[in-house]
Amino acid sequence: MIKLPTPIRPLLALAAMAAVALGASACGTTTADVENGRILFIERCGTCHTLAEAGTTATVGPNLDDAFGAAREAGEGGETIEGVVEAQVEFPRPSTEDPAISMPADVVEGQELEDVAAYVGKWAGVPGAAPPKVPGGPGAQVFANNGCGGCHTLAAAKSGGTVGPDLDEVLSGQSAAMIHEDIVDPNKVIAQGYPPSVMPLNFEETLSPEELEDLVEYLVESTGGKGAALQGGKAGGAKSKGG
Ligand code: HEC
Ligand code: HEC
Repeated sequence: MIKLPTPIRPLLALAAMAAVALGASACGTTTADVENGRILFIERCGTCHTLAEAGTTATVGPNLDDAFGAAREAGEGGETIEGVVEAQVEFPRPSTEDPAISMPADVVEGQELEDVAAYVGKWAGVPGAAPPKVPGGPGAQVFANNGCGGCHTLAAAKSGGTVGPDLDEVLSGQSAAMIHEDIVDPNKVIAQGYPPSVMPLNFEETLSPEELEDLVEYLVESTGGKGAALQGGKAGGAKSKGG
C-alpha cells in the first residue's frame, strides 16, 4: 500500500465527493473510465461484436448498435444500456439459435466491467457514431478505426496494446507485401509466443482495398520497413527476413 502524506488525503476525499456530485448531475457512473472501457471493448469484445464508435466489425455476436438502437431512440439513457451490458457479461444468456456460438461469461470483471459497460452505454446505438479522428493521414485513421491499437503497440499511433506483438519491434524490416499478408491472413504465420485466431480474421472483407493499401503504407512508413526504405531511396534492408 502506498501511504499518502496526510495533507493529500482530505483533498482526495474532496475530489471524490466532487466526482459524485458531477456524476449525479451529468450522466452515468462516477468511477468508470470510458476511455479505458473503449480500449477494453476493442480488445475483449470487438473480436465478436460490431460497434461503430469502436470501429469493430466482427459478427460472431449481435451488432451492439443494432441491439441498443431502438432503446436509444426510445429515449433510454446510457445507464439502462450500461445495466444490460453488465448483466449480459456477468450472466450471458445461452444463445438460442446456435448453442455452439455463445458468449463466454466474465470476459471482464470488476472495475474493467464498469469501464466497458459505461463505454457501451455511452455509444451503442448512437446515430452517426464513428471512431474519433486521428492525425497522421488515411492509414493512421484505418489503424484507429479498426482497433489495431487496442491489441498492438505502435509508437506512431501512440497505442500501447499488448495482446499482439509490438509492431515497432516486429515490422521493421518487413516488406509491404509481408505486412499485407499478416493483416489479411493472420493465421498463416502465427507470431511466436502469441495465440492464433485472436487477431480478427476478416480484415480483407471489412476493409476496402484502398483502406488496406493506406494501412500497409502507414505501417511501413511508421516502422521503417523495407517499403519505406525503398521509397526513401535509402539502401536499408540489411536485416531482411526474406520474402
Ligand atoms: C466469443 C465471442 C464473444 C465475446 C468475446 C463477447 N461476446 Fe457478447 N455476445 C456474443 C454472442 C454470441 C451473443 C449472443 C448470444 C448470447 O446472448 O449469449 C452476445 C450477446 C451480447 C449482448 C446482448 C446483445 C443483445 O442483443 O441483447 C451484449 C450486450 C454483449 N454481448 C456485450 C458484450 C461485451 C460488452 C463483451 C466484452 C466484455 C462481449 N459481449 C464479448 C459473443 C461474444
Ligand atoms: C483482438 C486483438 C487484435 C487486433 C484487433 C488486431 N490484431 Fe494484429 N495481431 C494480434 C495477435 C494476437 C497477433 C499474433 C498472432 C498472429 O500472428 O496472428 C497479431 C499479429 C499481427 C501482425 C503480425 C506481426 C508479426 O509478428 O509479423 C500484424 C502486422 C498485425 N497483427 C497488424 C494488425 C493490424 C494492422 C490490425 C488492425 C487492422 C490488427 N493487427 C488488429 C492481435 C490483434
